[in-house]
Amino acid sequence: MKLIIINGPNLNLLGKREPEIYGSKTFEDYFKKLQEKFKNVELSYFQSNIEGEIIDKLHEVGFNFDGIILNAAAYTHTSVGIGDAVKGIETPVVELHISNVHAREEFRHHSYIASAAKGVIFGFGLKGYELAIQSFL
Ligand code: DQA
Repeated sequence: MKLIIINGPNLNLLGKREPEIYGSKTFEDYFKKLQEKFKNVELSYFQSNIEGEIIDKLHEVGFNFDGIILNAAAYTHTSVGIGDAVKGIETPVVELHISNVHAREEFRHHSYIASAAKGVIFGFGLKGYELAIQSFL
């Protein structure tokens, strides 16, 4: 089982960024725990602050991986390009948000990805990534 987590803009700052919303753990530390927990899963991780790099990564993995866990962060709410990339690939995508985007500003309620996603997980903190992996098993 080959899965990839793709994190979008500002998620490289997890641990430092608005800890009251996103928690105080770095993603690198959390990712190590995920790898230990899911030893039978070939798990990769990619983060970029650049929209086109996220699209390129979706194209690269979107025909040969078993699943993609995508937290496109702010691009979720703005990027027709990432939404189209998710529609154009074959690998199923789970959209994920650490925070409960529906309890936040209205501009975070819309997603260009959700309509093409296998499912959406939000509001469970970093644990959401674990739930997303489990959804593919
Ligand atoms: C986020 C929610 C987005 O609205 C926000 O822009 C992010 C992170 C989340 O994981 O809760 O950067 O995707």
